[in-house]
Amino acid sequence: MRTEVAIIGAGPAGLLLSQLLHGAGIGAVVLERQSRDYVEARIRAGVLEQGTVDLLHRAGVGARLSREGLRHDGLGLAVDGEIFRIDLDGLAGGKHVTIYGQTEITKDLIDAHLARDAAPVFEAQDVALHDVETNRPFVTYVRDGISGRVDCDFIAGCDGFHGVSRTAIPPSILQTFERAYPFGWLGIMADVPPCHGEVLYASHARGFALASMRSRTRSRCYVQVSLDETLEDWPDGRFWDEFALRIGPGAAAHITRGEAIEKSIAPLRSFVAEPMRHGRLFLAGDAAHIVPPTGAKGLNLAIGDVKLLAEALTAFYRARDESRLDSYSARALQRVWKAERFSWWMTTLLHRFPTTDPFDRKIQVAELDYIRASRAAQTALAENYVGLPFG
Ligand code: APR
Ligand code: PHB
Repeated sequence: MRTEVAIIGAGPAGLLLSQLLHGAGIGAVVLERQSRDYVEARIRAGVLEQGTVDLLHRAGVGARLSREGLRHDGLGLAVDGEIFRIDLDGLAGGKHVTIYGQTEITKDLIDAHLARDAAPVFEAQDVALHDVETNRPFVTYVRDGISGRVDCDFIAGCDGFHGVSRTAIPPSILQTFERAYPFGWLGIMADVPPCHGEVLYASHARGFALASMRSRTRSRCYVQVSLDETLEDWPDGRFWDEFALRIGPGAAAHITRGEAIEKSIAPLRSFVAEPMRHGRLFLAGDAAHIVPPTGAKGLNLAIGDVKLLAEALTAFYRARDESRLDSYSARALQRVWKAERFSWWMTTLLHRFPTTDPFDRKIQVAELDYIRASRAAQTALAENYVGLPFG
């Protein structure tokens, strides 16, 4: 096959890039290791910044989002059971967030590809990148035992943290920055109404908890657990007991307990790879950076990268202007590090670390108390949460 852009990975980053390039008349082929069913079944987060919603609409995949997405003008913070609200709309210039699962975005994007007869190549094994330092890179893969090749002008590495693209950047050039947190999030999905009208982040002496949702009848709830704990340690009953304790009596009174239809433990990590470009290879999304989920930035950052990359590729094909391609890595990383800082700060503020001693806890509570009372502190949190403007 020959195309303009070979995209590795059919997550939200790869699929949205392909959709935006199609809108600009630029050809792309998406190669995905997993099957369509696997990709569409993956449970991920679901808090969308305004910029993300706008871009999904621009890509022509906003109809179901408009119908089913939940607009939230604020969020809740609970400190040892006492809840206060952050007025996102009032503090961040009328901006808000939208609750709509990443899984749904992936389905909408795959449907859009099928509608224009441009299905991703699913179950593409042994994907390998070649000649990324030349003007004629190509990608090889194997499907059903048959080898395939995509000749292209550019390769977009949208294959996540465990993908192959980042490994195509020589170790002498690639720099990585990492922070692993000494705890994970145990998350459940349950078909019960949410116990709080907006997303509620709870900091408690026993550890962190989060009350979120996918709809008015489906809840997504999390508690912080240590990394040596397993799902067997957490039958549903124990989960709801601990969750209720940590979010506090006010919200706990509204909990409807139900069976977990999905349950998983995810470790927390901050990770950044620099540069995000090497020759004709451009990284976007989790292939270049990971944030802990506390700031709800993972998906929004991936989509922010794709916005910059799609604009840069469009400028190249329309006017042979390479300036945006040349500045892509620096511009994307500027945004990435600000979101890394916010996500690290939310994680440090709201979780209990194994080393947290009574003094540390007092400091956490004092900072949360300061946020409760300070419009300036609340504004800083709100601005970051709804999404910082593109540089
Ligand atoms: N060859 C082909 N495809 C691959 C390979 C490979 N070697 N390795 C990984 N992939 C595919 C994965 O199967 C996955 O479908 O690349 C895709 C990467 O998608 P995501 O991990 O969802 O990454 P991204 O599109 O950048 O989206 C980032 O996902 O993890 C969340 O919090 C994160 O919300 C953020 C979003
Ligand atoms: C979620 O709805 O899964 C969710 C919400 C907010 C976060 C992380 C995850 O910060």
